[in-house]
Amino acid sequence: MIREMRAAIFDLDGVIVDTAKYHYLAWKRLANELGFDFTETDNERLKGVSRVRSLEILLEIGGLTLDDATKSQLAARKNDWYVEYISNMVASEILPGAAEYLQKLRSRGIKTALGSASKNAPLILERLGISSLFDVVVDGNKVSKAKPDPEVFLRAAEELNIPPAECIVFEDAEAGIEAAQHAGMGAVGIGNPVTLRESDIIIPGLYALIVVSI
Ligand code: BG6
Ligand code: MG
Repeated sequence: MIREMRAAIFDLDGVIVDTAKYHYLAWKRLANELGFDFTETDNERLKGVSRVRSLEILLEIGGLTLDDATKSQLAARKNDWYVEYISNMVASEILPGAAEYLQKLRSRGIKTALGSASKNAPLILERLGISSLFDVVVDGNKVSKAKPDPEVFLRAAEELNIPPAECIVFEDAEAGIEAAQHAGMGAVGIGNPVTLRESDIIIPGLYALIVVSI
């Protein structure tokens, strides 16, 4: 389907910046403390998934069943470590082409938004110095339903005042592509052509859009 793009909505983790490695370090540290291992392959299952659901998957892998109070303590402990890691991030960790593509869209009058599940998104944008590249930021602090629910993207469209059909989502997670489709938006998949096969277009990274007219 050919659409006019009036707004571009970007996922953060895996699209603008590679934070998966920091999530992995923190989850692995927690798993090791709990007495089991957590591999990079296991970590793939957590991409695009909310913090609470990520913990549930981790506990499933370790074969543990815990009460809610313990689970929220563990999620908080993981987040403290994660925040410690991302507090040292620098602008060179922005993925290739991401800042340039955002600037290119803005110079053409296309609105830009962040649509992320992460509650740490404001800290990451601030550390990378790219908050001003987004007209609107919708993150895990503003929404209650995790992707594949379309809430995060619909909220971004609403705040931008652009109809969903004129928004294009850029996502690296299968759940995010599904969320874009539920929102009635176009979906550009970034990364794995197999897991992202439901996308309208798949590209290896935003750098691929710098030279073409999209
Ligand atoms: C998503 C990540 O963007 O945010 C997930 O892909 C992460 O891996 C989720 O669990 C929630 O992030 P946070 O920073 O609120 O724990
Ligand atoms: Mg992502």
